[in-house]
Amino acid sequence: MKCCLALIHLTLAACCYADFAPPIVKVSLDEPPKERWAPLMEVIDVSYFRTLPSLIIESFVPSWLHQAIRLVIETLEDYLPQDYLSEIQGLASLSGTDSTDIILLNFGYEISAYCTSIVAQDTNGRIYHGRNMDFPLFRDILRNVTVDILFMKDAKVAYRGTSYAGYVGLWTGQSANNFTITGNARLAGSWWGSVIWAFICKFTPASWLLRHTLAEAASYHDALERLSNVPIINSVYYIVGGVQPGEGAVVTRDPWGSADVWSLDPPHGHWFRVESNKDHWKTTPEDDERRKSAIKALNATGQENINLDSLFKVLSVNVTCRRSTIYTTVMSAGTPEKYRTVVREHGCN
Ligand SMILES: *[C@@H]1O[C@H](CO)[C@@H](O)[C@H](O)[C@H]1NC(C)=O
Ligand SMILES: *[C@@H]1O[C@H](CO)[C@@H](O)[C@H](O)[C@H]1NC(C)=O
Ligand SMILES: *[C@@H]1O[C@H](CO)[C@@H](O)[C@H](O)[C@H]1NC(C)=O
Ligand SMILES: *[C@@H]1O[C@H](CO)[C@@H](O)[C@H](O)[C@H]1NC(C)=O
Repeated sequence: MKCCLALIHLTLAACCYADFAPPIVKVSLDEPPKERWAPLMEVIDVSYFRTLPSLIIESFVPSWLHQAIRLVIETLEDYLPQDYLSEIQGLASLSGTDSTDIILLNFGYEISAYCTSIVAQDTNGRIYHGRNMDFPLFRDILRNVTVDILFMKDAKVAYRGTSYAGYVGLWTGQSANNFTITGNARLAGSWWGSVIWAFICKFTPASWLLRHTLAEAASYHDALERLSNVPIINSVYYIVGGVQPGEGAVVTRDPWGSADVWSLDPPHGHWFRVESNKDHWKTTPEDDERRKSAIKALNATGQENINLDSLFKVLSVNVTCRRSTIYTTVMSAGTPEKYRTVVREHGCN
């Protein structure tokens, strides 16, 4: 166990941890969707992986209902986006798991993004983006299955992200020299509510839109446009960072479109935006301690001192980082090689 003292101006944040970098998996987009997750099986404990759907799903629903939902999902599989479904079927056959269970696992993960995301600009106009992923319910399981994924095309990294084994969507990702995106859950919907949106309206899971945007968008503005307008099954916040000064925003999403876009405004002193799981125009900071402590730490850091290291420290302060924090990622699309994820083995504070 390693102990560190992070001194942020007058705030003394003591954190004891044995944090670690997650395994890296290379997923080749040149392979057919059903085969591309094979490399994941080499870095995870496959027999543990097979137990995940029951562990996670049956903490939401009783096991008899789990069996019943399985039958419903089976008849509705065709309504899911084709690539999404094919990757899930591939994961199921590669790991020897039921594909309806992997679908349910994906929907379970879909509402698991309790977190804090920050996008900030330094005095030289460089953009930094960071996030904590928190989830009290399965924190010990999710720390166990956190992976960094390099999505490869023609032997080059097309985009990258951080996810959980078995989850084909992304809540954290980077398109090098283009933009970075994180997603935070909004209004804690029920996962079965999302299942209904998905099947009735054929909307896309929010984490799948995030991944699709990393794959397809050509620029920060293109990404912002897609993340604001493409229908999704659940309400979320998308936090986006670019490469040019001013390129940073929080998009508050309803399933059918954006409710609000909150951009950086450095000329007026708004050099960072902090989003957790509340609408920014509704909350007073008192409502959300994670947000308040992050803002305080950012104020203390100052725009002239913000960089990936100081942003990581901001994301480590009490109570922005908490016992339920699973991982922290910091990234900057302009320096893509500096992408860094740390799994908080025992959480913080
Ligand atoms: C984490 O994974 C290991 C096997 O890889 C397992 O033995 C352990 O119980 C897991 N922890 C939790 C909380 O599931
Ligand atoms: C931005 O993303 C697009 C689409 O993935 C890609 O073709 C392009 O090369 C990227 N731009 C830069 C500067 O990397
Ligand atoms: C952070 O600084 C801004 C601008 O000086 C100030 O309005 C805000 O109250 C400060 N917030 C906290 C939590 O320190
Ligand atoms: C973190 O903050 C909480 C709430 O203010 C407090 O109860 C706790 O003792 C703090 N933990 C540390 C390590 O300072």
